[in-house]
Amino acid sequence: MTITTSANPSRFLPVHTAFVERLNGELDAVLQPERLDAVGAAPERLIAAMRHALLAGGKRLRPFLLSETARLFGSDDEFLRAGAAVECLHTYSLIHDDLPAMDNDDLRRGLPTVHRAFDEATAILAGDTLLTLSFQLLADPETHADAMVRSELVLMLAKATGAGGMAGGQMLDLAAEHATLTADQVRNLQAMKTGALIAVSCEMGACLAGAGGEDRAVARDFGAALGLAFQIADDLIDKQSTSEEAGKATGKDEAAGKATLVHLLGAEEARRLLDATIAEAETMMGRYGERGETLVAAARFIAQRSH
Ligand code: IPE
Ligand code: IPE
Ligand code: MG
Ligand code: MG
Ligand code: MG
Repeated sequence: MTITTSANPSRFLPVHTAFVERLNGELDAVLQPERLDAVGAAPERLIAAMRHALLAGGKRLRPFLLSETARLFGSDDEFLRAGAAVECLHTYSLIHDDLPAMDNDDLRRGLPTVHRAFDEATAILAGDTLLTLSFQLLADPETHADAMVRSELVLMLAKATGAGGMAGGQMLDLAAEHATLTADQVRNLQAMKTGALIAVSCEMGACLAGAGGEDRAVARDFGAALGLAFQIADDLIDKQSTSEEAGKATGKDEAAGKATLVHLLGAEEARRLLDATIAEAETMMGRYGERGETLVAAARFIAQRSH
């Protein structure tokens, strides 16, 4: 099994490094051809494109947050299968985000984007297939023994990534290239396109661990704060990092007319908002004391990341 790592993997804690290795093993396993066969055999070219995108590396931040939130609420299962589902969904969003019809990018996770390495039709299908695989994995009894929990996960992830969540946010992001948005409108757009998946990753971890309503709400709010901070950091990276460091093209948002808080408020003010949002997220973890330390470290990593 060969798994290439991204040009610039950001392993911010030893526990994250070890988790990434185990998650990569799980992703490799779920993309074994025989596991994808159904009515017929999964076409090799399609599997190759899915593997290209998924196994290229990436920070695996959303599965890590899912797993660590489950641990926060007392689980000793790290739920790699559910984490793999979330990472498949995230990777689909990146493949489609990079298409010529959207952000038209050539580099992702340090490698040519799927439509460059293969072709556009294959990239669309690889994205579609990672999306459906994500829900197949969640519905799989190996994800959780309780069918009610599995169906709740499916519902949560579908809502967070559909028209009122990630996909809707991507629609608003494209429409905003031709409009002037207020800061509140940009925050809403970013809460949908980026925040929703990060928030639901944390909430899914809480759900898998059997956490109660109040803890689940904290998990979701913590994830939403991380999501807002995450996209501001991404927009700062676009403005301030090199593509070698980021593993993807940078310096494109402004010319493309992207609606970002960095553009609207300026880099300094956006940085202040990012730091304040991370501080809020840390405060939310305060009630859990030492048990919340890894999630606080993840929040700090998001504030400081340069890729
Ligand atoms: C990039 O996500 C897309 C955004 C939501 C800004 P990541 O920065 O988590 O990308 P990978 O998974 O590490 O490649
Ligand atoms: C992408 O935002 C968000 C999703 C894929 C849902 P960006 O377009 O800013 O992400 P990058 O910079 O290409 O990774
Ligand atoms: Mg985009
Ligand atoms: Mg993009
Ligand atoms: Mg970006």
